[in-house]
Amino acid sequence: MKVLVVGGGGREHAIIMKLAESKRVDKLYCTPGNGGISRYAECFDVKATDIEGVVALAKKLSVDMVVVAPDDPLVLGMVDALNAEGFMTFGPNKDAAIIEGSKVFSKELMKKYNIPTAKYETFSDSASAIAYLKEQNSYPAVIKADGLALGKGVIIAQNEEEAVEAVKSMIDGKQFGESSSTVVIEEFLTGPEISVLSFTDGNVVVPMVSSMDHKRALDGDKGLNTGGMGTIAPNPFYTEAVAKECMENIFLPTIKAMNAEGRRFKGCLYFGLMATPKGVKVIEYNCRFGDPETQVVLPLLDSDLYDIFEAVYNEKLADIDIKWKNECCSCVVMASGGYPQSYPKGLEMSGMDDKGQVDGVFVYHAGTKYENGRFYTNGGRVIGVTATGETLQKALDKSYAAVDKISFENAHYRKDIGARALAAIN
Ligand code: AMP
Ligand code: GLY
Repeated sequence: MKVLVVGGGGREHAIIMKLAESKRVDKLYCTPGNGGISRYAECFDVKATDIEGVVALAKKLSVDMVVVAPDDPLVLGMVDALNAEGFMTFGPNKDAAIIEGSKVFSKELMKKYNIPTAKYETFSDSASAIAYLKEQNSYPAVIKADGLALGKGVIIAQNEEEAVEAVKSMIDGKQFGESSSTVVIEEFLTGPEISVLSFTDGNVVVPMVSSMDHKRALDGDKGLNTGGMGTIAPNPFYTEAVAKECMENIFLPTIKAMNAEGRRFKGCLYFGLMATPKGVKVIEYNCRFGDPETQVVLPLLDSDLYDIFEAVYNEKLADIDIKWKNECCSCVVMASGGYPQSYPKGLEMSGMDDKGQVDGVFVYHAGTKYENGRFYTNGGRVIGVTATGETLQKALDKSYAAVDKISFENAHYRKDIGARALAAIN
């Protein structure tokens, strides 16, 4: 089989490496890919959001399957366009990708079908939003842009001033364009966060190994929100009891709700959860694999990923048995100094061996370029240094040992990835 993966970050590198293990895959392509991916898949320069370009590329390469990994092409309807040309795909149709594409949609879905989530109100004019904030007078307040905003559309305002500013810049200042012309203001929840990615074909939902992201830029969960500075799996807060509660109250009801709305979801549905004192609640849905969650989840998969993708497409997921390794995995992201704000590109990297020069490590590339046998930084999040181990501590020790051997000017990484999880285990 010939498979084309759309996207070019650490998540896509992890998908490519797992597909490379498949007995059924002979040839891997990726667009646009990155420096690390280019050594395992032939890369092209068609952008991940270029629907016509990707359809034309799939035809030219006569691939058997296209995996659409990032949120924006899914929300724009790339899978629909590929299906219309007869391609087998992995990823939801546009109608179903709206579960991530519009927070207003997902909040209304949860309200209608009694799926636990934070209480909220929706606003399209700043005066009413501000009046509501003043009336509630409860901080922190959570303000979210309705549409996609490169993971930056959520503001946790600590006081009225911050909240008013966020509302004004989103609605009036069009901070995220049309994506922020409507905002959701919701109740602030507390508790450990749990990411659960799942495979679903619309009939059954099969959760993958749970994980935990570390979204803030600095140690101790300080600093700005980022795309994710590191992950661990499994998540110790996802106990058997929590898993059962999630399946009954969240996972199955969501699949049923999407079917009832005529929006069958096929692909990877990501549940962003918080274990609050009043039970597990949904913080957000994503219509795709998480990044950097995928980098710690897929290394633990002990089944053929191509078989799973095919079964999802054919709505036959119930027929296959998905196995997981009984190990732990950790991913420490090395980012460019300055990320998530401005940062330089094109810095030469050293110590860039795929195996991180440490047994049990693999270095997933997020923003790198490969030229004349050398790697250069080419993005905010540059690499995800990933390791598996019998215990979380062992995995983390390996990730950090490998991080020590890699360098580029002003490299920034968190030194406390997994600390909260370790404290919960011990
Ligand atoms: P999102 O981009 O939707 O994943 O949100 C980014 C982060 O904001 C989440 O991972 C949470 O840490 C935080 N967050 C979002 N919604 C809430 C909420 N209602 N209460 C507390 N924290 C939240
Ligand atoms: N790591 C969070 C996300 O992929 O949205």
